[in-house]
Amino acid sequence: MARRRASVAGLRTPRIVAKRPNLYIQDNPKGHFWCNSLGNAPVCCLDKKGRRTGATIANLVPQSYLCGWRTIGGPSFRPLPTSPPLPVSSLAPRPIDVSGSSAPADILHEVFGYAQFRGAQQDIVDHVVGGGDALVLMPTGGGKSLCYQIPAIARQRAGHGVAVVVSPLIALMHDQVGALHEAGVSAAFLNSTLDWEETQDVERRMLRGEITLLYAAPERVNTPRFLSQLDSLKERGKLSLFAIDEAHCVSQWGHDFRPEYRALTVLHERYAGVPRIALTATADNLTRADIVERLQLEEARQFVSSFDRPNIRYTIVEKKDATTQLLRFIEREHEGDAGVVYCQSRKRVEDVAVMLRDAGINALPYHAGLDAAVRQKHQDRFLREEGIVMVATIAFGMGIDKPDVRFVGHLDMPKNIEGYYQETGRAGRDGGPADAWMTYGLQDVVNQRRMIDESPAGEEFKQVMRGKLDALLSLAEASDCRRVRLLGYFGEKSTPCGNCDNCLNPPQVWDGTDAARKLLSTIYRVQQLSGISFGAGHIMDILRGKPTEKVKQFGHERISTFGIGAEFSEVALRGVLRQLIATGALAVDAEAFNTLKLTEGSRAVLKGEASVTLRESVSSPAERKTRREKTVKGAPSPAAAKLDETGKKRFEALKAWRAEVAKEHNLPAYVIFHDATLAAIAERAPATLEDLQGISGIGTKKLEAYGSEVLRVCEAF
Ligand SMILES: Nc1ncnc2c1ncn2[C@@H]1O[C@H](COP(=O)(O)OP(=O)(O)OP(=O)(O)O)[C@@H](O)[C@H]1O
Ligand SMILES: [Mg+2]
Ligand SMILES: [Zn+2]
Repeated sequence: MARRRASVAGLRTPRIVAKRPNLYIQDNPKGHFWCNSLGNAPVCCLDKKGRRTGATIANLVPQSYLCGWRTIGGPSFRPLPTSPPLPVSSLAPRPIDVSGSSAPADILHEVFGYAQFRGAQQDIVDHVVGGGDALVLMPTGGGKSLCYQIPAIARQRAGHGVAVVVSPLIALMHDQVGALHEAGVSAAFLNSTLDWEETQDVERRMLRGEITLLYAAPERVNTPRFLSQLDSLKERGKLSLFAIDEAHCVSQWGHDFRPEYRALTVLHERYAGVPRIALTATADNLTRADIVERLQLEEARQFVSSFDRPNIRYTIVEKKDATTQLLRFIEREHEGDAGVVYCQSRKRVEDVAVMLRDAGINALPYHAGLDAAVRQKHQDRFLREEGIVMVATIAFGMGIDKPDVRFVGHLDMPKNIEGYYQETGRAGRDGGPADAWMTYGLQDVVNQRRMIDESPAGEEFKQVMRGKLDALLSLAEASDCRRVRLLGYFGEKSTPCGNCDNCLNPPQVWDGTDAARKLLSTIYRVQQLSGISFGAGHIMDILRGKPTEKVKQFGHERISTFGIGAEFSEVALRGVLRQLIATGALAVDAEAFNTLKLTEGSRAVLKGEASVTLRESVSSPAERKTRREKTVKGAPSPAAAKLDETGKKRFEALKAWRAEVAKEHNLPAYVIFHDATLAAIAERAPATLEDLQGISGIGTKKLEAYGSEVLRVCEAF
């Protein structure tokens, strides 16, 4: 397939790119390759001189199909300028004075209004403020931002200039910078959404040292223009820090590979001595090692926090009628709540969004096929309005910091545990109860296996991807604690959590070994008799002794296993097939109408050397023993649950006031104040500005800007 694609382009030199605006070029140590405008189909390989090479795409970019390329901008290729190596003396990190106003604890308190650092934050901040490099692994919502924002502020105050934050989240930069402005921090972003004048204005302010945190997309960091500006800052000692957010994007083993992250080695090579902090919420060991290698963070201190998100309840249900199951789940447990529903294809996203809307749920679609303006609008509405359900492909969600997402659903299975964990991690960032709910069925296994098999990747790469898929499949098939398995995948030991479906409602298991052997021997005999393979439905019909037209047509009622599995239901047999395919004891031939084929792994099951244990068909949420209390539309937020009646009224009035401010500032409401902050204000019933002091989330700037308004709102109660 790769070869066929390679021959379509007819491209010989990079110059032709200009005539094909829908193609662009990517650099690669072994040469260059072209991608189409969707960024997911490399079409031609060129060597460094621009000649077509015999190398297959599979060798060069095995990850392209599996991890998904992103559009990286205009069709231009510019070699990165290199500068002479710096003298060794300039490589050593310079400790800075952290006394007085640049002390981290003071900044935490004064700027962000928080009383204490969380978990490893203090150690990380101290290390980076002192000029050290760091790799930070902390779960979603764990508080990674402060780990670079506080050092940036501290180092700026100590005269070290601007911190550059590299982030792939262009669509979120406006809000991230807005949140810093609200806290009184000078911040700006540079990305493709700015026009030329705005860009120049930011650049000028950056060069004048007026900006503390500058957010930039990775492709920006690699432009000669930006690099020369950084050179100028560096020469003047005004380049204080690089923060590389979502650092897993640098790894082809990660779930969100972005080729443009690869070029970030320039930061280390060209600006040696400027501290770097890389942060991510998901990385298994392989990805972690890859991040270290790719970003040359061998010397960096690693800070690995627990990945656990105890407030998220994991549930994986057997797929029957997925959309109806979803609707029931939302109606029963999350009416009026904000949530995200992940689907595999754009078409499915559209269909599910319509289905939910028809059922009266405030749902919006989001996928890469939608116009950029529509995507931004839907994202903004999701962040700014309450109770929206975003139906999306994986194109949505990275960096989404909406605190009150109450559930994340998966209608289709993701590719691996990292993807699943990152996506589910978007629920419950405020620490309140949240659900991660997934439907999973035979077709998911077949699809995911097929995508790997059919990709043009090299065999080695496919093996890694299969291993990652297998880990997710065994999570889905598991009858023991899901969290223990999830955390175990990230190298963390734990004990049963009491907050997943299997803990709350231990599933019945049954021994499917006999059924598995009968299925496999039926497949074998049918193949022997007819010389061709058949699909799951037909095989199950034979085993259950159903004399269908097709069975008769092929004379399959004569097979010795005909009818010997009459006691098994179709659901049970499907479960067995799913697990056989999941474990590689059976293969599906996608090119031959999804027919079933025996594999090397079948032998052990047939010989009785491997057993098959299955969970009983998982009950639907309606039948769950332990159900959350149904949320009532318009119910007060969990943050306000403990307030008395007057407190609740105050809280609602504060929310209404906050909505107005947020609208005026074109920011999501939680950027002004979190629900928890409003609840604390409502509880305290403040009469003076002093009463507001010490409430978590009210820093000096917010007290100044909003203090008297907040008092005015509270006065009425
Ligand atoms: N020390 C602290 N005290 C109180 N709140 C905190 C503290 N540190 C962080 N937070 C809050 O926790 C929330 C999550 O933080 P943040 O956005 O940095 O998460 P993250 O680790 O970057 O997650 P993601 O992986 O989703 O990007 C924010 O609302 C932040 O204000
Ligand atoms: Mg973050
Ligand atoms: Zn559990």
